[in-house]
Amino acid sequence: MLKNKYYKIITYGCQMNEHDSEKLAGMLEEMGYLPTEELAESDIIILNTCVIRENAELKVYGKLGELKQYKRENPDLIIGIGGCMMQQDEPVAEIYKKYQHVDLIFGTHNIHHLPALIEKIAAGKGRVVEVWDEEEGLIPDLPSQRKSENEAWVSIIQGCNNFCTYCIVPYVRGRERSRPLNAIVNECQQLAADGVKEITLLGQNVNSYGKDLADETDFPELLSQLNEIDGLLRIRFMTSHPRDFSDKLLFKIKELDKVAKHIHLPVQSGSNKVLKEMNRGYKREYYFERVKKIQQEVPEVSISTDFIVGFPGESEKDFEQTIAMVEELKFDMAYTFIYSPRSGTPAAKRTDQVPEEVKKERLQRLMKLQNQISYQKNQALIGTTQEILVTGPSDNDPEVFAGRTSTNKLCFIERDDNLIGKLVKVKIKTAKSWTLEGNVVNA
Ligand code: 5AD
Ligand code: SF4
Repeated sequence: MLKNKYYKIITYGCQMNEHDSEKLAGMLEEMGYLPTEELAESDIIILNTCVIRENAELKVYGKLGELKQYKRENPDLIIGIGGCMMQQDEPVAEIYKKYQHVDLIFGTHNIHHLPALIEKIAAGKGRVVEVWDEEEGLIPDLPSQRKSENEAWVSIIQGCNNFCTYCIVPYVRGRERSRPLNAIVNECQQLAADGVKEITLLGQNVNSYGKDLADETDFPELLSQLNEIDGLLRIRFMTSHPRDFSDKLLFKIKELDKVAKHIHLPVQSGSNKVLKEMNRGYKREYYFERVKKIQQEVPEVSISTDFIVGFPGESEKDFEQTIAMVEELKFDMAYTFIYSPRSGTPAAKRTDQVPEEVKKERLQRLMKLQNQISYQKNQALIGTTQEILVTGPSDNDPEVFAGRTSTNKLCFIERDDNLIGKLVKVKIKTAKSWTLEGNVVNA
């Protein structure tokens, strides 16, 4: 009998990368590889990398060092590295030279070539590097090996045209390319037929969806069509760029019953000076207006955001504008990042970088404030009844089940296998900053 072959993929970074890893896994499984969690047992190990901040890159180098021992123990092991980091010349050159145990380097635009690249290596053709500079249209539709039975990610637009001055994404993911509407609708219909209850539409800027397509298709229209799919219970999406967050979209979110009442709307800073230098394309007053209108039209909505602290030239006064914004808008959740210079971006060249200690201190202040607000907002839910989509056992305890509210709050309930994949009403009994706990209310 032939020996089984195993693969392990290690993913860094955002949901887009997680979803790419599902596609890499899908291709490996079609090639006959089986998944494993054990590096020592693997016949192929793939790192799917991220470059958004420096620490993401440092982690990858650490992991590459660690993998050397596995190659020593098993010389037939294939080690591959792909993802955003490989779209840049420097890391590719460094890895090729200094990490001789790496067999395969591939980019974000050619993930669909993985099987052919592996076959080349297996045929003894030596180390393989294939990184495409320019995306040749869309990456073709690929089978995904999904982690969850009732939730799935669906990519709707690849790349980004915004060129925020701190951000590396447009350089490594290329320009915006929307998938045709019917390809997305077909994929979602298929997912629903396979038992998926919740889909999350992915794109760096979902609000740009359709702008590059020949017809009139836009994101609100896509949501309308997906809302009609039988079997689907919920539709999420991320990320929305505030500049492109139109009234048309707002009223669709309000109108469509399956569209989750949660909007991730990264603002990055509360200071007009910093926003301008970031090339975000809006002012703080505009952002306030958008959030207030969303809250007015959809009162139950939750809004989350991203902040970067310590952008070059950010003064104490600028930072206080961010604090004031958080105090007034009361986000349900905020992801807060220390500015990390990314080589090749305009902001990295600036000479007025903020000292590391100042950045750290600002981050602490911002996080502390946001934690209090998230806590208060969740506390206010105690005693209310919320609807959650039950996904299954929590990551930490198989006896506890987890699900999310439409507003994207993670809620724990007692284990009940019959509830998986169902919308259930839960009376909230306790709340922390990031999680809720409740009892199922029998209908
Ligand atoms: N430094 C810190 N944070 C960054 N982000 C993007 N680029 C950088 C950078 N150079 C953050 C932004 C974005 C999120 C995905 O990552 O807040 O919204
Ligand atoms: Fe980066 Fe700005 Fe595009 Fe987001 S919108 S991916 S922050 S360039």
